[in-house]
Parts: sequence; C-alpha cells; structure tokens
Amino acid sequence: MESMRDGEIYWVVTHGILHNDKQQMPAFDTRLTETQRWELVLWVRELRKKQKAVEIATLGPYEWNLPAGFPFPNVPKDNPMTKEKVELGRYLFYDTRLSLNQTQSCATCHRQEKAFTDGRARGLGSTGQLHPRGPMSLANVAYSPALTWANPNMRQLESQALVPMFGETPVELGVSGKEDLLLNRLRGVAIYRKLFAAAFPGDAQPFSIANVTKAIASFERTLLSGDSPYDDYQRGDNVNAISESAKRGEALFFSERTECFHCHGGFTFTGALDYLGKGITEVEFHNTGLYNRTGEFSYPKNNLGLYEFTQQKDDVGKFKAPTLRNIAVTGPYMHDGSIATLEDVISHYKSGGRTIRSGPLAGDGSQNPAKSEFVKAFDLNDQEKADMLAFLRSLTDKSFLTNPRFANPWQPAPAITKKESPYVLHGEIAAVYVEDGSASLYHAEVPGFLAAMPRPTAMEFQVADRQQLRLLKPGMKVVAGVRRQGSDYVLENIRPDKSGRRQ
Ligand code: HEC
Ligand code: HEC
Repeated sequence: MESMRDGEIYWVVTHGILHNDKQQMPAFDTRLTETQRWELVLWVRELRKKQKAVEIATLGPYEWNLPAGFPFPNVPKDNPMTKEKVELGRYLFYDTRLSLNQTQSCATCHRQEKAFTDGRARGLGSTGQLHPRGPMSLANVAYSPALTWANPNMRQLESQALVPMFGETPVELGVSGKEDLLLNRLRGVAIYRKLFAAAFPGDAQPFSIANVTKAIASFERTLLSGDSPYDDYQRGDNVNAISESAKRGEALFFSERTECFHCHGGFTFTGALDYLGKGITEVEFHNTGLYNRTGEFSYPKNNLGLYEFTQQKDDVGKFKAPTLRNIAVTGPYMHDGSIATLEDVISHYKSGGRTIRSGPLAGDGSQNPAKSEFVKAFDLNDQEKADMLAFLRSLTDKSFLTNPRFANPWQPAPAITKKESPYVLHGEIAAVYVEDGSASLYHAEVPGFLAAMPRPTAMEFQVADRQQLRLLKPGMKVVAGVRRQGSDYVLENIRPDKSGRRQ
C-alpha cells in the first residue's frame, strides 16, 4: 500500500477489488459519501504510519524489500537485522574457510541457482560423508518456525548454523573442536577485519562463533522469494503471467480432491509459518506414505523423521512439508531425494502413497499406519496431471535464483576482457557515493593510462556495477579494471586486492 497514491486507495475504496471475476472486496461507492471515503484514505495512511513505527521499533531500521503481501519475519531480539551483518553473513555463507579442509562452504550444498539446494539426493560433507537427508531450499527460511526436515526443537537460524559447522554425525564442514583455528583464519583476512568491525561495532572482540552465526542468520533472513509468474498472476498484476493449464492446476492444488494446500499452504507453500505478530506457531510434521517396509520401523532406520526426537511410534516417517516455491529447480525430491521428478511426486500422492515392489524397502506406503489422513488416493487424468505440473512450475522465481544480492561476493569477477579494458588499477577506497554511483580512490600508477594519485588526494571514478558500491567501504584495498567513458573514468569488476602491494 505504501507504493499507492492517495487517489489509488480512494479508487479501491470506491470500486472494491475484482479478481478473476470475483468481487474480493466490496465497493463502497453507495455506502459511503465521497468525503467519508477520503477520510478513510487518510485514516488508513495514519494506521500504516503507526504500524510502521512499531515495526521499526521491533525490527530495527533494516530495509527489507519484502515481496508484495509478505509480512515481516520475526527476528531474535539479540540479533536485530543490519545491512552490515547481512553483508558479512554473505561473505561467510560463501567462504570455504568455514570448513576444516577449506573445500566447502554453506553454498556448496545450498546453491543459489537451485534455490539454495544442490541437486543431490543427499548432502555430501567436506570429508566425503553422506548426510542421511538432502539439503533444503533456503527460500523464505526466515518464516520457518522449525528448521531442518524433522527436528521440532531447532527453532533459530543462529543455532541451526552451528550444525553444519560443528556437527559430527555426519561431518559437514567439520570444524568441531577447531573454533580458534577458524576464528584465526577469519581474523587473517583483511576484508573480514572491516566487515566484522562494521557488523558488531559494540564488541571489543567481534571475532566470535556467536557473531559468525548471527551474521549468517541475518543473511539467510534476506533470502526472500515471492516474485514468480504465479505471484504476478495472483496479485492481479498480469492475468496472463501463467498459462490456462497452470490456472487449472492451481484449482486442483487448492481442491479437496488433492488436499495439497492443507500441508503446503500460505505464501511460502509450506505448512507452519511464523512472522511478526503471528502469536503461537504450531509446527507440523506429516507422514506421506513414502515407505511401509516390514520390520520394526516402517521407514528406513537412518531416517525415522520426527520419531528420532519424540520416540513415539506414530511419529515414524513424519517430516516437515518443504516449500514448493522454486520446486521445479530443487529436485530430486523428499527428505532423502528418493523421488527423481515432479511427475513422480504427483504419482506418489495420486496413489495415496508409494509402493516399492522389491528389496529391503519393499512395501505399500499407502498402508503406512502413521500416514496423514490428507494423503489419500485420488483420480487425476493425464491433462490434470499436466495442469498440476504447470502450476508447480509457475512457482519458479527467476529473480530469486539470479539476484546478485544473494550471490557469491568472493567470486573472482569475470576476467576483464582485453577488449573492454586492458588497464588494471590497484587502489584504496577513500569514499563511496552510493547515490552518484561513484567512489573515490587513492591509487597507484596505471602505467600508460593514469598517473598515481596518492593520499591525501583521491580521484573519483564511476562504478559500472552499482550493486558493487554497497560492498565498498573506505579503507578497503581493491583491484579493478579501469576505462575511460566520455569524460568519466569507470571502474569495473572491483574485488578485494589480495596482492598485499602498497599504493
Ligand atoms: C554437506 C552439505 C551441507 C552444508 C555444507 C550445509 N548444509 Fe544446510 N542443510 C544440509 C542438509 C542435508 C539439510 C537438512 C538437514 C536435516 O534435515 O537434518 C540442511 C538444512 C539446512 C537448513 C534448514 C532449512 C529449512 O528449511 O528448515 C538451513 C537453514 C541450513 N541448512 C543452513 C546452512 C548453513 C548456514 C550452512 C553453513 C554454515 C549450511 N547449511 C551448510 C546440507 C548442508
Ligand atoms: C499431509 C500433508 C501433505 C499433503 C496433503 C501434501 N504434501 Fe507434499 N509434502 C509433505 C511432506 C511432509 C513432504 C516431505 C516428505 C518426506 O520427505 O518424506 C512433502 C513433499 C512434497 C514435495 C517434495 C518437496 C521437496 O523439496 O523435496 C512436493 C513436490 C510435494 N510435496 C507436492 C505436493 C502436492 C502436489 C500435493 C498434492 C497432491 C502434496 N504435496 C500434498 C506434506 C504433504
């Protein structure tokens, strides 16, 4: 609503909202006088101002850029969001120094282009150990009241981040018992000395494991996905954003016939949701009838789901309903990656559970005693199956998968092509002017192109990629390509200068 002008709000009050031929909000043109409608507009504005003041008081001044219709996530009181923490968290999330043998980072198993999954059925740790379950999408994880596939006690991103770092069964990043080594490693990196100090300005000793997890969690809370073609369609921005087939699939998804929406409901297409002002959040886990083997347990021993935490027999095989946003890019599916394609996931539900005919896992999942009552066989002809698939595919949010704010900040920028600029500049940032898209630098001579510009006089440059400007801070040593454009000098592919040379 903040983006609407008063006249637009007035128009909505007057005419109501019509969506897909359904009157979703009544028109007030006959019920209220013109003056009353204008008074209402002003009142709604006031209301929003008060609400916003409360939000800022609770959440801090962080600019969320929430997708339209998304509420504010809850943020722990001892870790308010700041852009400095988010920035540090991004560097840490993508840093292989976080694994003992420096081969893996969080992003090894949580890759942006796959909505922060990794295409594997099961996670593969830094020492080659296989995780019993698959990496989960981190899209909208800020709203998840319980984390990981089946742990009802894992409630906060800050504590969850400790598991991949320090967990020993299985080993993921494998730094258990090596806290000091890890912190020393980080301390030794020039850019971290700046980022940690900026993110935790009150701390005499900002390098701590608690701060590492606070920063990573802050970054994770920014991973918001709400801009798929389905969202465009649903908000009424573009009725043609999804195909007719996907629209029929939507109706099936939200029908009592398939029951999908019971467990994958809400704006994140998961079950339980948590957000600012939500009140009590119940966490739910369900058995969908994937297995029904004979023997002590109906599910494979290494993946008993909620049972592992409650030891209750009827909790065997109960898992969290994962988000269906970006589902087309997060296969293979289910907690153990045991279903390869979305077509097969639909078949699994259509038959009210999966039947495995032979081998140690043989059994008819539809007969699993702990199965949810919402998973029951239903009819679905080929066209309807195609419709359901089209709907699921309309949940892919390309901007989320490619948003540079979520991408690897360490990546050596694409090599500066000789054609574009043969000149490389080594320098130190003196000041950053975000509004102007520029930065000033002290710099060494760029032979054949620019004379040295040592302290105290800095030279101003335009920055080709404005996203990069946010990462620049005074004092940072950088290397960049430099070229001339009209009367401006332009920097491109700016990255930390690790050469240790002096300007
Ligand atoms: C070796 C692969 C691997 C690495 C490395 C890894 N993860 Fe994961 N991640 C997983 C797996 C597997 C799960 C599911 C865990 C489970 O159910 O027990 C998971 C689950 C999660 C979840 C829960 C998501 C949800 O929707 O509930 C979060 C959050 C997460 N990881 C964050 C991280 C962070 C932060 C790091 C780095 C500190 C990291 N992961 C490193 C494999 C990995
Ligand atoms: C009773 C609740 C429930 C219902 C009803 C339900 N699901 Fe699920 N869904 C889950 C749970 C729980 C999982 C994870 C199960 C597991 O890993 O063992 C899941 C997993 C999935 C996955 C794989 C997600 C991933 O990231 O691996 C897809 C796709 C899916 N469901 C789609 C659907 C569709 C389509 C329907 C309707 C036909 C549906 N679900 C109905 C609870 C449900």
